Amino acid sequence: MNELFSMDRKDYNPDGPVFRRPSARGIIEKDGKFLVMHSRKYGYYKFPGGGLEAGESPTDALIREVAEETGYIVIPESIEEYGSVFRRERDTDNPDGIFEQVNYYYFCKVSDESVERTPEDYEIEEDFVAEWAPFLTILAHENRRNLNRGGERGIIEREMRVMDMVDEVARERRFAADEEAAIRALGDADYAGMLAYVKSILETAQTEGEGGVGVHKTEFGYSRFEHTKRVVGWAKRLYDSTPDKTGLRYEDLMIATVFHDVGRAESAKTGLMSHAAAGVPITREYLLVHGFSAERADYISGLVGAHSDKWLMRDPSVDRNLLMLMEADLLDDMGLLGIVMDTLIVRARKENATFYDCYNHFSRYTYPMQHENPMVTPEGRAFWEEKTAAVDRFMELFKRDITMG
Ligand SMILES: [Fe+2]
Ligand SMILES: [Fe+2]
Repeated sequence: MNELFSMDRKDYNPDGPVFRRPSARGIIEKDGKFLVMHSRKYGYYKFPGGGLEAGESPTDALIREVAEETGYIVIPESIEEYGSVFRRERDTDNPDGIFEQVNYYYFCKVSDESVERTPEDYEIEEDFVAEWAPFLTILAHENRRNLNRGGERGIIEREMRVMDMVDEVARERRFAADEEAAIRALGDADYAGMLAYVKSILETAQTEGEGGVGVHKTEFGYSRFEHTKRVVGWAKRLYDSTPDKTGLRYEDLMIATVFHDVGRAESAKTGLMSHAAAGVPITREYLLVHGFSAERADYISGLVGAHSDKWLMRDPSVDRNLLMLMEADLLDDMGLLGIVMDTLIVRARKENATFYDCYNHFSRYTYPMQHENPMVTPEGRAFWEEKTAAVDRFMELFKRDITMG
């Protein structure tokens, strides 16, 4: 296993006997949160895991220790090597001796069910609890603050350094997994092929300028493909939260969502028609070539062709799949994502932009746009209101941050 770093305290008699105790730890992420052990007595955090027993492999120790400490069951097939840390210091149990430890770190997943925890004595003494934490950098910071409060300093420092490293690695892994998540959200058909096709079109071509009042996404690196994946996420969220599914066709909705902006490149190049209209023949041809019936290809490409006509949302007889696509599309750029997007736009327009410039832009565009809720369905309205509430609170606190008022 690849060594991440090593720690040698050189506080021991170099001729002393060496005691070795390798151990294994799990980096377990679920729904954007990490499973960690928190010592409430000393205020530090560590990844669950522990020492190998005689004859035990690192991965067997990992599975056993995670169950004992957290009550969660590691899925063996999910175990992936991350890296190791070597630690050498004076043996606390034998002051003349040397303690040497290799810690093996693994990425892994746990199943939903849990068993009863069986903590060891020192874990009870340090008041350890298992917690799901969203930000490893915050935990690393806590370890740094509590380095000398109690507990084993070497462990606290090692975990702090690994947490700082994992935070970035985990983020990269999450973005890579994002495309797979989009494919899973879609269902069983050959969506991987569809996504790859749409990606190849959107990522190679210059897309046209667009946006609401004062907002031009081409002023910064707005990725049409990333938008497409996010809209797939919103369509799935809307579909899942809608109790009455009459008239909804999940597969057709998802395919239309994947293709909805595929015409951007073509319309930017020719300038002859809207991106929605330009997307119709592209979508239709792809579906026909891939064995869809003409009727279905017409229906799905029809959704693509109509998705820009947002006034149709007010029509009570509007097709429910079209309505859901339009709501998903609109939900994407709003809320805190909208705030970040507008920050990027402000920065693109003015190199030395200040917080005041951002605040002015938010007040003029982001904030008022957020307050016109165009959603029609109760589910869409609820998501929009959640986003509005976040923006309201952000604006309130941001204003206080930057003004004397
Ligand atoms: Fe669009
Ligand atoms: Fe879109």
